[in-house]
Amino acid sequence: MYHSIKEFRVWAALPLCLVCASFCAGCAKVESRFVYDEATDKLLPEASLAVKASLQSTFGTPADPQIPGYFPVDRGGIVAEVEEVSTKDRMQLRIKLETPADENEQTQITAGQLIEFLFDPEDAFDIAADALEVKLPSPFDALSGLKVVSYDSENGLLKFDKPLPEIELIESGLQIVINPNYKLQQGSALYSKHCLHCHGVSGDGNGPTAIYMTPRPRDYRRGVFKFTSTGPQNKVSTADLKHLVIEGIPGTYMASFKMLPDEEVDLLVEYVKYLALRGVTERVIDIEVGIDFAQTVLEDELEDVEDADKRLEIMNEIREELAEFLESDYLEIDLFGMLDLADAWDESVGEGVLQSPSIARTDPDGPSAADPTKTSLENGRLLYLGNTAQCASCHGDAGKGDGFQTRQLQKKPDGSEYDLPGLYDSWSNPLKPRDLTRNIYRGGRRPIDVFRRIYCGIKGTPMPVYGGKGLSDEQIWDIVNYVMAIPFDEQKTEPAK
Ligand code: HEC
Ligand code: HEC
Repeated sequence: MYHSIKEFRVWAALPLCLVCASFCAGCAKVESRFVYDEATDKLLPEASLAVKASLQSTFGTPADPQIPGYFPVDRGGIVAEVEEVSTKDRMQLRIKLETPADENEQTQITAGQLIEFLFDPEDAFDIAADALEVKLPSPFDALSGLKVVSYDSENGLLKFDKPLPEIELIESGLQIVINPNYKLQQGSALYSKHCLHCHGVSGDGNGPTAIYMTPRPRDYRRGVFKFTSTGPQNKVSTADLKHLVIEGIPGTYMASFKMLPDEEVDLLVEYVKYLALRGVTERVIDIEVGIDFAQTVLEDELEDVEDADKRLEIMNEIREELAEFLESDYLEIDLFGMLDLADAWDESVGEGVLQSPSIARTDPDGPSAADPTKTSLENGRLLYLGNTAQCASCHGDAGKGDGFQTRQLQKKPDGSEYDLPGLYDSWSNPLKPRDLTRNIYRGGRRPIDVFRRIYCGIKGTPMPVYGGKGLSDEQIWDIVNYVMAIPFDEQKTEPAK
């Protein structure tokens, strides 16, 4: 099977480089295959194939990435509204552009570009499901690969290469997108040039240079990002990712990409979100499908069955159930799982859930806003060492990152214990609390950055969330002031005064 990969890559890289040739000189070759989550490979073979096929048809390939329009990813495309459907041959529409045309050639409509219809996903699902029930092909199949033949900007006439199917949802007022996903294609090319060697083609953090790194490059596929300004239950925001790509993560291999033009950083950030959403979708489907159709389920069923006929019977039963499931419920799980995800991400990516302190930073040497009998620094020190916040249990009394929790055995998410003592992140990599005497802040060194780390916690790590529960905003500012003032002293093991 692998002998064809080389040819496939050449084939796959071609259209992309045509698209991006004007954009990134010396465009990097884009690898054409995503790897799948381990959990996908642990499903029964037919189920595993179905998951891979639906992922590919929804998210495309690295050389030709795509994502449904309802996900909060800026994937590109020229948005227009249908004003009139031609009744004659159904091979043209009158449209009104919603994306303002600008100098960028990508907002020009030219022959060969793809056209996508933005149906309400639930309405479209119902129509496709009805067709399936009477064993007819989905009427939407006829729309896949629909391409522009010509566009007349004077009268808004858009001609395409095949007749539209009779679907009641195609009517005036419907939105369409021309040349969707072109920004993802550009993002993919930039990603393979600047990020892939660490973060991997699929964003699994397993790029060729990653094995030598601690901490490991982020595996985006969990959708978990550490340094966010959003609430504990929220995802990362677009602004957080952008800030991070520009600044890098000091003290790690994650470099700063300040030298890239702003538009390129934006394209990269959208591509990271795309990889994250692809990964999370895969996980959600794996969990749902795995309940009944993981290999372990079949193994359990067969465990004490010796009789060969009985074993065959069980296997056939499960196979039949699976076939039925793939024909009906699977489609629903796939779509509704993605709509839920899109909603959850939609809430976070904007500025809506930004956690901002309710009061301004207190002067470190002035009175604490939480306890005016002490200076802010002094109150911060007491809070740091005290029982409510327990910072010292991880970071150590002197802030050197050597608190007693680093010497204890910790539990894995499944309840069993890790072999070696110390803290772990949610990707099961060992992790040290930060040495606060070194003054290196991975999530940024502005006081507001440190405030957010304490308020929102560091997602995917044991660093807890303190905002809105444990500590008031006034107390958090005192701690920020104290943490930022902890002096560097190689010898010191006593609490800093
Ligand atoms: C030399 C290796 C390397 C390269 C190249 C690299 N990264 Fe990273 N990246 C890392 C490491 C290591 C981390 C994890 C740091 C940590 O856990 O504190 C990381 C973390 C991240 C994170 C996670 C931030 C968070 O809050 O969790 C994002 C997003 C990211 N990188 C994006 C990018 C993008 C985009 C590029 C390309 C423009 C890129 N990286 C290039 C090594 C790299
Ligand atoms: C259960 C252990 C634990 C506790 C309790 C804890 N931390 Fe952390 N903290 C960590 C770990 C682990 C990291 C490193 C996370 C990473 O970047 O991967 C960290 C990182 C940090 C950072 C670095 C942020 C950055 O941008 O690099 C700061 C500052 C910090 N903690 C302050 C505090 C303060 C203040 C408290 C108490 C209010 C506290 N921590 C309580 C485990 C803990």
